[in-house]
Amino acid sequence: MNPQAAPLTVAEPYLIQQDWAAYTPEQHAVWAELVHRRMPQLREHACREYLDGFHQIGLCEDTIPNLAEVNKRLGPRTGWNATPVSGFLPPDAFFEMLAARQFPTTTWLRSRNSLEYTPEPDIFHDVFGHVPMHAHPVFADFLQHYGKVCARITDSARGTAKDKLERMGRLFWFTVEFGVIRQNGQIKLYGSGLISSHGESTYVIESLRSGGANTARGPEIRDFNLDQVLDQQFLVSEMQKVLYAVESFDQIYEAAQQAEERLL
Ligand SMILES: [Fe+2]
Repeated sequence: MNPQAAPLTVAEPYLIQQDWAAYTPEQHAVWAELVHRRMPQLREHACREYLDGFHQIGLCEDTIPNLAEVNKRLGPRTGWNATPVSGFLPPDAFFEMLAARQFPTTTWLRSRNSLEYTPEPDIFHDVFGHVPMHAHPVFADFLQHYGKVCARITDSARGTAKDKLERMGRLFWFTVEFGVIRQNGQIKLYGSGLISSHGESTYVIESLRSGGANTARGPEIRDFNLDQVLDQQFLVSEMQKVLYAVESFDQIYEAAQQAEERLL
């Protein structure tokens, strides 16, 4: 735990300890299989900040991460922590944690029978997918700012909060979960929904191989535009039809600031 981290109040009932010693050899083996399945594709198609972050926070390919060890490396870099929680959080608790640079992190791992998909996030989605990006200073600032804006919307605009939070949810979806970035003229992945899913990533990459022209076989990749993103509906349960590509992570930090100006 980050000693400088602000105490959590709303999220406090959801905080748990990670019992790392209780993971079985089979669970470590499932983690290793998941990582080894994703890495060849990610070495080629993930953004460089993700790949740097993976090593900077000391993730191992063969063992489930010990969050205390991850935080010893992550905390000094950006002040973020991967903080163990019991499962899905209500929105106010989730935003409180992001605003405090504490990423709600599940500790359970999917079974070998559901390597590709779990309806709820697990430690593979949360840590392998999300946490490496938290080592990047600009992404780290963006994510905290996002949490602060959503927390303020929750507190201050009860009558219209639902609509505004739905719009902010789209910003999260098309960046943190399904974001892509242009680097050296190529589309690279950074959203956890892509990083942690072989099927979703392959759907995007195959489409890029065909020049991105055939949107029947892959998503349409548009230039990032905040107004479009805030209005863009999505389905959680299907392959994504539209993705938004940024030119730099400064762009999503600025988008969070602009969203704050528009919605608060
Ligand atoms: Fe996620």
